[in-house]
Amino acid sequence: MRILVHHERAERWCDALRQRLCDTASTKGSRQGESSEQPSEPSSKQAPLEIVADDGEMLGDVLVVWAPPAALFERHRDHDVKAILNLGAGVDSLLDNPALPDDVPVLKLSDAGMASHMLDYVRYGLLHFRRDFDRYARQQADTQWAPHRVVRAHQYPVAVLGLGAIGSQIAESLAADGYPVHGFSRSAHTLQGVTCHHETGEGGRSLKQVLGDESLGLKAVINLLPNTPATRDVLNAEVFQALPDDAVLINPGRGSSVVEEDLVAALEEGKLRGALLDVFQHEPLAEDSPLWHQPRVIITPHAAAPTPVAEAADQLADNIRRIQRGEVLTGISREHGY
Ligand SMILES: NC(=O)c1ccc[n+]([C@@H]2O[C@H](COP(=O)([O-])OP(=O)(O)OC[C@H]3O[C@@H](n4cnc5c(N)ncnc54)[C@H](OP(=O)(O)O)[C@@H]3O)[C@@H](O)[C@H]2O)c1
Repeated sequence: MRILVHHERAERWCDALRQRLCDTASTKGSRQGESSEQPSEPSSKQAPLEIVADDGEMLGDVLVVWAPPAALFERHRDHDVKAILNLGAGVDSLLDNPALPDDVPVLKLSDAGMASHMLDYVRYGLLHFRRDFDRYARQQADTQWAPHRVVRAHQYPVAVLGLGAIGSQIAESLAADGYPVHGFSRSAHTLQGVTCHHETGEGGRSLKQVLGDESLGLKAVINLLPNTPATRDVLNAEVFQALPDDAVLINPGRGSSVVEEDLVAALEEGKLRGALLDVFQHEPLAEDSPLWHQPRVIITPHAAAPTPVAEAADQLADNIRRIQRGEVLTGISREHGY
């Protein structure tokens, strides 16, 4: 069985997968930070594995990809591809690929170490605003010495939009940090210490209803929704107006959720206090975007939670072993787009 890897640093991924799946000698004893699981020796029924970087011509039985060109799938049109394994948590660019076959399961990375990076990012953003670092930076520019009252975590209710593999861990961790946390997802969830709201089915509430609920007293909205048709432009002028005054937006999810013009307007009119943004409608962010020069915005270049190779390769190797054993894989929902 041939595993074909399409990625700008494909050889790095190939090496990591070979170490886990083919190269018994190099995985004896566990290296720090890597899985201690030993590679499975192929049984007599399993085809031997070949793990190769995409050279633009070869065919693969399993495609391990990040943002591949349509040509990759076109080349495989008459080939029996068993699965497409996405090298990230977001499958939006893959689902937008016009040549993506509709009868092959697509699997995405589920956390795979990204939640830990994401938690650092979100905690930084919350501390920045809760402990007034934005205000102190402005005061420094004006040589102004004026301490603010400390706002404690339990006085700073936050909303976490999206309670998936990453979002659920962020919500529970922030609740453990002492923040009152309101989670929002499509279907109902139960999470430790988190008040969970959902959109569909019995008891469902819209995003605007939740974010505009004055009784929650939200200070921060953390967006971890995926990019799907249903989440596009959901953070817009109407929602910003419904939020309590002085709330902040932290967006490491997807830029497609935010109407950037409405965000700039809400910041300029002082409705929103500030924003920490990692993702944008178009990336890289255009040089002439007003967001670059908006003093209440901090911009990072889609760097909140890069995929850690070791953890991701462990998860990919597990999935490849399951494919080798002929197990049926449950992929993402094409209907819901995540
Ligand atoms: N900036 C970075 O570096 C970076 C790194 C990794 C990931 N990300 C982003 O973070 C996102 C979240 O990752 P994840 O692994 O937690 O995603 P995930 O496991 O796919 O979970 C998505 C969550 O969003 C909810 N959702 C989907 N559509 C919705 C809708 N229309 N209304 C309300 N809730 C909806 C889902 O609800 P249900 O639970 O009911 O299905 C689920 O809780 C990814 O999609 C990716 O875009 C960014």
